[in-house]
Amino acid sequence: MAEPRCQVPAWRSDFPVDWDEDTRSSRRMFTQICAGSSAALFLANVWILLKSAWRKPQIFPKTRLLGIGDIPVGGSKVVAYPSPSDPVVVVRIETDRYVAYSQKCTHLSCPVRYEPSQKVLACACHMGLFRIEDGSVLAGPPTRALPRVRLSIVGQDVVAEEVIPA
Ligand code: FES
Repeated sequence: MAEPRCQVPAWRSDFPVDWDEDTRSSRRMFTQICAGSSAALFLANVWILLKSAWRKPQIFPKTRLLGIGDIPVGGSKVVAYPSPSDPVVVVRIETDRYVAYSQKCTHLSCPVRYEPSQKVLACACHMGLFRIEDGSVLAGPPTRALPRVRLSIVGQDVVAEEVIPA
């Protein structure tokens, strides 16, 4: 005589679990985890928003970078601005015209250098090229222009006034 197919397996008697209750608590636990995670992400976003709203604007000191005769026309020099850990390339593109950009490539932060033969700022890491007039991208993987340093000529000095982000 064949056994009935819907008979409860023998191993279930060894593990006395109330299956209906077990399923219900798992669903509840899943919902609690989802709700908790959502609340944590919401609070983290509120924290980031408040922190950015309270952030003080960066103040740039007017700083003498070099004298007007320190580099020849078509020459360049690396200086630091606004802090000693921020390298800046200053290029004298005409007798009385200087430009300055952050030396950190906007792709992966390799140093850029001035190429007088092409009149571009070049990054050797992945061949990124930036226009000398405005720091915009000419070629290569960078997608953002170089941050520019606003300069003024005061007497015989080239003075940095602020960094204008890309
Ligand atoms: S780091 Fe400058 S092009 Fe990649």
